[in-house]
Amino acid sequence: MFNDNDIITKAAKLDIEKIRSDFPILQTLVYGQPLVYLDNAATTQKPKSVLKVMDEYYKEYNSNVHRGVHYLSQKATDAFEVARRNVQAYINAKHEHEVIFTKGTTESINLVASSFGKRFVKAGDSIIISAMEHHSNIVPWQLMCEERGATLKVIPINQKGELLMDEFEQLLDETVKLVAVTFVSNTLGTVNPVKEIIDKAHAQNIPVLVDAAQAIQHIGIDVQYLDVDFLAFSGHKMYGPTAVGVLYGKEKWLNEMPPYQGGGEMIKTVSFKKSTYNVLPFKFEAGTPNVTEVIGLSVAIDYINATGLDYIREREQQLIHYAIDGLKSIAELRLIGEAKERAASISFLVGNTHPFDVGEILDKQAIAVRTGHHCTEPLMDIFKIPGTVRASFAFYNTEEEVDKLVKGVKKAVTLLS
Ligand code: ALA
Repeated sequence: MFNDNDIITKAAKLDIEKIRSDFPILQTLVYGQPLVYLDNAATTQKPKSVLKVMDEYYKEYNSNVHRGVHYLSQKATDAFEVARRNVQAYINAKHEHEVIFTKGTTESINLVASSFGKRFVKAGDSIIISAMEHHSNIVPWQLMCEERGATLKVIPINQKGELLMDEFEQLLDETVKLVAVTFVSNTLGTVNPVKEIIDKAHAQNIPVLVDAAQAIQHIGIDVQYLDVDFLAFSGHKMYGPTAVGVLYGKEKWLNEMPPYQGGGEMIKTVSFKKSTYNVLPFKFEAGTPNVTEVIGLSVAIDYINATGLDYIREREQQLIHYAIDGLKSIAELRLIGEAKERAASISFLVGNTHPFDVGEILDKQAIAVRTGHHCTEPLMDIFKIPGTVRASFAFYNTEEEVDKLVKGVKKAVTLLS
């Protein structure tokens, strides 16, 4: 499948070998064959530096943060707050207290839906989402709308899996209190025009939340340039640990929103009559935080910075276009989602076969893909399909792995026809 134009330079190839050696799991054998890991949209693998720093934390300075005068606690607190500043720099937030550590994207969105909803949404109001949202950017808004007597409006998409921006503008009326959209579709790979969405919503004084779970690892995000009001993302999709994520929120909103959870850390004073709340970011960080995961996330950001997001994006674009070309050579294969702007996920179906069957045949060839509705059931309903096979790429994948995927799908076609 290589031709002269596709072949990456020798230097770049050497880089890939070095990069792959940074991720121990990529050397794993599955059923005696080298693992081909193409489920990066579900979770990414972790470089040695992330594993090492988390191990060091538990071995050398495990302790609670923000509460102890002792050496270990101060060391842990320093590392925790350095991590916050690292996240701040990565997304170019104006203030470090605009970075709230959460369990992940889902918790970040639930926090906004609950807290923003209580403060700003009343009966008769509405929230706009899009037709390609992950369940985690649908259900929290449904719960909040039910509670507040508000309605949920949905930006439709075309057959390629792109948002219909004219229809979006029609939805922007005086009832809308917030727009919540994904930057990149986890299922289709579509990259949405979030800057345009934000500008159009702001023209009517409507704030915007961007779900960046599938964007933060592929695309440089500058929250001040975007002027986004809230941004949510997860550590484990950006080469960091599970159970840590970030909510970025503009200071002006976070200051006005009530706490999401009560407990230690988020209070200033507590009495049985009344409690008062801590300043940002602690107001939204009740309880002992996930210290080791936050420190691991910070090192994952260091890894991305050292590799370079420009390099990452270029490599991933090469890989997905190479993969799309290869997959399109299979007559029985139908791509689901063909947006002009896309990031590293490719969804497809093969003839009349069920995605699970294709996934199982690929698994036996040590190729890890995801099958199913990918937590986007309403999107599957729009395409009138039960699910897809999804291959999702990271910069550590190779053209050789893409060749194995294409060969594996061809084998599935033969076995299932
Ligand atoms: N949201 C993750 C995915 O799309 C789990 O695979």
